[in-house]
Amino acid sequence: MRVAAATASEGSTDTITGDSSPAMTPADNAGIKKTRMNDPRSVLPPNVIDGKAFAAKLREQIGKKVATLESEHGITPGLAVVLVGENPASQVYVRNKAKQTREAGMNSFEHKLDPETSEKELLELVSKLNLDPAVNGILVQLPLPDQIGADQVLTAIDPAKDVDGFHVINAGRLATGQDALVACTPLGCLMLLKDRLGDLTGLNAVIVGRSNIVGKPMAQLLLKENCTVTIAHSRTKDLPGVCRGADILVAAVGRPKMIKGDWIKQGATVIDVGINRIQRDDGKTRLVGDVDFEAASARAGAITPVPGGVGPMTIACLLLNTLTACCRQHGIEVPE
Ligand code: GUN
Repeated sequence: MRVAAATASEGSTDTITGDSSPAMTPADNAGIKKTRMNDPRSVLPPNVIDGKAFAAKLREQIGKKVATLESEHGITPGLAVVLVGENPASQVYVRNKAKQTREAGMNSFEHKLDPETSEKELLELVSKLNLDPAVNGILVQLPLPDQIGADQVLTAIDPAKDVDGFHVINAGRLATGQDALVACTPLGCLMLLKDRLGDLTGLNAVIVGRSNIVGKPMAQLLLKENCTVTIAHSRTKDLPGVCRGADILVAAVGRPKMIKGDWIKQGATVIDVGINRIQRDDGKTRLVGDVDFEAASARAGAITPVPGGVGPMTIACLLLNTLTACCRQHGIEVPE
């Protein structure tokens, strides 16, 4: 799906790197709204990728396709989101997902379960959702409480409804070049990259972070685009040197400002997946990515900011996956 540039409108930050991203709180979100959404002067420099605007445009296009699906086939996609417990960051995420699902014209089914819920109870709910024809996508919000094994739950989700793309079947399909539901954050990163760079063939892509939910699927997606892909991680020798060879650098480690400005090749495209909350000198806190944005943006040809870069793309891609899953389940093409 191609998305034209648009002026910034509503967005949200929501991402997990799978490494050590700290949780966001409701106050985090309020901060983002105040500083980025209501400031008419916030015009981004040309090398800064406006993920918030891109995601807004993508959601708008999805909304139109959902309307066409309804008018031509009488089908409304449905997304079930399951939250176990009261993690404040997860509550914000789930609320945002439900809101944006409804705004796109889809049905949103929210299941909020007690923090003491057992694995068996959660698996029973997942089985019910698997069988429910009104539910085309299922997302179980992570992290889960300690008494529940995330792997058991994620593998219990029907792969056809696995809109997170975390199921081993979808990971395997992606790795072997078959039609898959792809994890939302890497999918969003790829869309931003293709929008900026067009054809990625032959480019050197370095991904810092090897999580199942960002690093590994990102590598698969970039390989499919004919990039030469390196997955770097905490044990990589000469990480700065490896990064300096990158035409595309994707940072997904969950460590604030770990990637320094002089690790960036002149003109490289930098995608920052990290969302880290750090303490400022005045005692307040702010969000930063895994990349030292100020220094890196002086060298990068294009770079995503934090917030307002990759984060808003995650929910937009969740909606896209729900629409795709719904159409596949009904054996119809995604409407043009
Ligand atoms: N927790 C934070 N982000 C996500 C996500 O994208 N999917 C799931 N399932 N849990 C999350």
